[in-house]
Amino acid sequence: MFIRSLFAIGLAPLLANAYLSGSVGPTTSAATKSANKVCNVLDYGAVADKSTDIGSALNSAWVACRDGGVVYIPPGDYAFSSWVTLSSGKNTAIQLDGILYRTGTDGGNMIMVKHTTNFEMFSSTSKGAIQGLGYEFHKSGSTSGPRILRLYDVTDFSVHDLALVDAPVFHLSLDTCQNGEVYNMAIRGGDKGGLDGIDVWSTNIWVHDVEVTNKDECVTVKSPAKNILVENVYCNWSGGCAMGSLGTGVDVSDITYRNIYTWSSNQMYMIKSNGGSGNVENVLLENFIGHGNAYSLDIDGAWSSMSKVSGDGVQLTNVTVKNWKGTEANGAQRGPVKVKCAAKAPCKDVTIEDFAMWTESGSYQVNTCESAYGSGECLKNSEDYTSYTTTVTVKSAPTGYSAATMASDLKKAFGTASSIPIPAIPTSFYPGATPYSSLAGAQATSS
Ligand SMILES: *[C@@H]1O[C@H](CO)[C@@H](O)[C@H](O)[C@H]1NC(C)=O
Ligand SMILES: *[C@@H]1O[C@H](CO)[C@@H](O)[C@H](O)[C@H]1NC(C)=O
Repeated sequence: MFIRSLFAIGLAPLLANAYLSGSVGPTTSAATKSANKVCNVLDYGAVADKSTDIGSALNSAWVACRDGGVVYIPPGDYAFSSWVTLSSGKNTAIQLDGILYRTGTDGGNMIMVKHTTNFEMFSSTSKGAIQGLGYEFHKSGSTSGPRILRLYDVTDFSVHDLALVDAPVFHLSLDTCQNGEVYNMAIRGGDKGGLDGIDVWSTNIWVHDVEVTNKDECVTVKSPAKNILVENVYCNWSGGCAMGSLGTGVDVSDITYRNIYTWSSNQMYMIKSNGGSGNVENVLLENFIGHGNAYSLDIDGAWSSMSKVSGDGVQLTNVTVKNWKGTEANGAQRGPVKVKCAAKAPCKDVTIEDFAMWTESGSYQVNTCESAYGSGECLKNSEDYTSYTTTVTVKSAPTGYSAATMASDLKKAFGTASSIPIPAIPTSFYPGATPYSSLAGAQATSS
């Protein structure tokens, strides 16, 4: 279905398909951009000595190359203490082959890229990384400090082959962007809430082949969002993937997640709101494998961790949950199906099919449906749309629930008290699925 070409020059255009609304990624390759101009941060005052702040050099290199060219951060260790806002780029790229170590303590975003078109941020060796050293905040219980990377109003772009590690707060946010691709990423954070992996509220974005370790959002869609395709994701000890929190005036449509492997997380997929208004429509959650998670499918229109907002509830329409396999931690406490919709905004046209999950402890599991209409499991199949609650106790394992595990499932969380090692970017993110692109580092050495 996806037709990709021109790997050798690092450009991987994606033709429009049913889930996206057009092509994604930069419109010219990094090779073409570097033929135009290269702005090496070492020529703008950076020193790879792990103590000189790279901030102003990075900013100057950006200004010099933002009208067309590649900002190049060569291999080496750099201290990063003053954050940069890189604005108004055209036909540009940032090639991060070195490692940036956070030394500053301000809040905000370590790197913010905004109002930019035809942009690529990547490591040509797949070894570039940003080490946020968030544990220095977290060990004392604080969740403050900066986010690592935020893109705002960026169009026709990709972010790939980078490791984002131990963010003081969030790792990667895509805010009001368009036509983007995020792939071959390793995100590894501390074991606590508030350290989101990838948050997306944007249009026409393909996130694929990423691993997230943390204890909050894995890859999460927020409102407004449209045509988001999330594929081949390994939530390796995380919060799990989600949508939300959804508040008022929600506008989310055409969201597809497929091939999502979730291990030891809070949930396999959650849609979370409490009160609120607006719509979520056309959602497909397909090919999910879970093991050791608390919740599995968790649609919660009265999510108690969120303060109630005004409105009768967010209307969910046309949500399909298909081919989910595996096991949950304790099905009596938290059954694999929980679809709890607002009484005044009952979910419509929900389909749960080919769903086989079983409990890892005890001998039964309890599914719950509340004001949710459609077909499968405990959903009510009618069109009267009145409020109801049903719980169904399942006493024997459904056939076909067993599912593959990933060989490298994390056995123990990284915690929050000590430095988190920078991982190598994995080459497998879902059992049996081959990543769409080989690692940039592997392409470079094999060609
Ligand atoms: C329901 O959503 C799917 C995508 O998940 C879409 O293909 C289909 O057209 C939608 N159905 C309706 C009736 O809009
Ligand atoms: C999952 O996390 C563990 C702990 O870091 C690591 O050993 C393993 O390689 C990770 N899995 C992948 C695919 O990176």
